[in-house]
Amino acid sequence: MQQFHTVYGGAVVEVVRDLQRARQAVLTARAAGKRVGFVPTMGALHEGHLSLIRRARRECSFVVVSIFVNPTQFGPNEDLDRYPRPFQRDVQLCAREGVDLVFAPSPEAMYPAGYSTYVDVEGITERYEGACRPGHFRGVATVVTKLFHIIPADVAYFGQKDAQQLAVIRRMVADLNFPLEIVACDTVRDPDGLAVSSRNVYLDPQQRRSALGLSRALFEARRRFQAGERSREALGTLMRRIMEQSGIAVDYADVVDPESFEPVDPATEQALLIVAGRVGQTRLIDNLPLWTPPPEPTH
Ligand code: PAF
Repeated sequence: MQQFHTVYGGAVVEVVRDLQRARQAVLTARAAGKRVGFVPTMGALHEGHLSLIRRARRECSFVVVSIFVNPTQFGPNEDLDRYPRPFQRDVQLCAREGVDLVFAPSPEAMYPAGYSTYVDVEGITERYEGACRPGHFRGVATVVTKLFHIIPADVAYFGQKDAQQLAVIRRMVADLNFPLEIVACDTVRDPDGLAVSSRNVYLDPQQRRSALGLSRALFEARRRFQAGERSREALGTLMRRIMEQSGIAVDYADVVDPESFEPVDPATEQALLIVAGRVGQTRLIDNLPLWTPPPEPTH
């Protein structure tokens, strides 16, 4: 069991590695009448994570961030070993954002010898990311279930960037009656449109330029939709072409229902554009709702 505090400009955050201790800290906060917000992460925190943490900070009186690179959601040929782990920097960012508790368990504590229980969400996990990354969502659903038991929060925050993961978790929370609310936060983009992701650090400057093909494809398809195009095939082909022209090896480009991840044809305002592809060794995903909110009134 290891526990320490980091001070950032006077801010203190408690880092807890022990499962029972983390759970006890959350139960104590709840018993004191605090609303507990939880942001599960795999670390390598970026602006996307920080937007989740800031929303949790605004809406809750006790904020927990977990940092755990979950081995069960990586396939055998994926980037588990090279996944970035800037732990000290992550903890400092949490301190700066006013997080109350960082939960950072070890893989051995989460999956001790003899571990043999997994959570499978059927249907939605078989398509798109599920088809490209067999076993990925089983690992996500399993670790999120464990995290929700260890950190019994009132509300958990997830990024819209991982739209299918969000849909899987919402399905699981509804099906298994988890007593917590799931809040989705908008994708954060760099000024040139690239969705922020922990995996962007793998990209060299040339690859980063190529990667812009994902967001360009999405925004161009949305423009076509707004101009009247409703065909799933036409929108998919357009996105695929833009990505290929940028040097991306396309995994998929489609129009789907954001809850079921079933294809939608003809496209409707409720549908979601989704894309995935590889730039060199790096696999990137992105999505964009076809619905655009009307501009805020200025008065
Ligand atoms: O989105 C992530 O960072 C991970 O998939 C999650 C939800 C923390 C589970 O490991």
